[in-house]
Amino acid sequence: MKNKMPKGFFWGNSTSSMQTEGGWNEGGKGQSVYDVDTAGRTAKNWQITIDNFHGYRHDFDLMKEMNMNMYRFQISWSRVVPDGDGDFNEQGIAFYSEMIDELLSRGIEPMICLYHFDMPLVLAEKYNGFLSRAVEEAFVRFGKEMMRRFSSRVKYWIVFNEHNLYFAEGFEHYSGVLKKELTVNDCYTVFHHTMLAHCELADFLHEISDAKIGGMLATTEVYPASTSPKDSLYLRKFDEFYNRNLCDVYAFGHYSDEVLTFIRNHKIEMDFQKGDELILERGISDFISFSYYRSVLLDATTLTDEDVPNFYLSKAMKLNPLLSHNQWGWSIDPEGFRRILNRIYHEFGLPVFPIENGIGQDESWDGEHEIEDDVRINYHKEHIEAMKNAMFLDGVDIIGYLGWGLIDIPASGGNIDKRYGAVYVEPETLKRVPKKSFHWFKKVFGSNGDEF
Ligand code: BG6
Repeated sequence: MKNKMPKGFFWGNSTSSMQTEGGWNEGGKGQSVYDVDTAGRTAKNWQITIDNFHGYRHDFDLMKEMNMNMYRFQISWSRVVPDGDGDFNEQGIAFYSEMIDELLSRGIEPMICLYHFDMPLVLAEKYNGFLSRAVEEAFVRFGKEMMRRFSSRVKYWIVFNEHNLYFAEGFEHYSGVLKKELTVNDCYTVFHHTMLAHCELADFLHEISDAKIGGMLATTEVYPASTSPKDSLYLRKFDEFYNRNLCDVYAFGHYSDEVLTFIRNHKIEMDFQKGDELILERGISDFISFSYYRSVLLDATTLTDEDVPNFYLSKAMKLNPLLSHNQWGWSIDPEGFRRILNRIYHEFGLPVFPIENGIGQDESWDGEHEIEDDVRINYHKEHIEAMKNAMFLDGVDIIGYLGWGLIDIPASGGNIDKRYGAVYVEPETLKRVPKKSFHWFKKVFGSNGDEF
């Protein structure tokens, strides 16, 4: 007998506010680091993007037509609290409240993410973002208010998008840190502050509602580059610091012993104050979510015990010659996806939720013919099959599957040549044009994963 996906399994789309909304200076919104160039990003596209600020209803209709039953979006902190820690902007709150109603009226369950790299500019300039405990407190205040307002209608919550990236090398601006030379102490301080915020909000949500909250990781499956024991030794350590340490908090309410040993041995100051332990203990998550796009190799030849494990990948990453890659060098590895689902679920025991998956392609529309994005169809097909194997052959408890940017949005660098969507968005007119994959997703989602 054919295995059936559970009733109520979620299929849907996932985005961030700065890649979707536009309306950067409307509706009382304050500026975020994405509205200026201070974070070192390509800023020219952040002001309009796909203009969901004005046109989200049409996109929700398209999602409904694709048979989606979940949409993960982000509440932009600076739209709701323009200067980050001052008055709430009721216009901004009303915008999200209406969005939630529009989703629910179409049978689409909303999932809210509270932070996706777009720190309010004032807080970045004044305090260097999450390096400061004052910013952590301001964020918790914002998060709690959103939970008070929306948790009766929104049952799935994420605090930080790709939480493990904020203290990996090269991603400092994700936590609103504008300071150039970040020390190891700084990285661990950001780590600790964001973890406290996650746990305080998880605890609060559980106190006031029956809604569920998840941790969220950027997972890139990593394999040893060779059979050398050193590659495996360093890879295990990398995983402990980069992934498992966060899962330990989400699932068990404490940091990993191995990471704490490193912190003690290196005399790292991370602003751990009296009472913080209790906050971590009380903030257990209900599920672990993650983004997954690709896998890479770790070649430990140049690594030593002096290197900080969180930063190994930026020194020792290699591409896997056995896999095919898209034009940005991102490999296609559905088995890596199955491995991640298994590793997180079987090691930490919480239901897992892949909430970002997809492949970036450079596409353009000739104004007449449908875009034939078979590469995308194959990518999702293979990943959904891998997920079903994880579920039915390996016993993994999976809540749903969300594709990233299934209506085209700018990529994380602001560029629009890397598209993930099943719906093409024309750069000048912002016209929506379904691609071939649109019909494929409609069939897969509509049959609850039965028909490919
Ligand atoms: C995730 C981010 O890392 O990957 C998104 O949450 C991002 O913001 C997505 O857009 C895909 O990455 P990229 O660089 O191809 O846009």
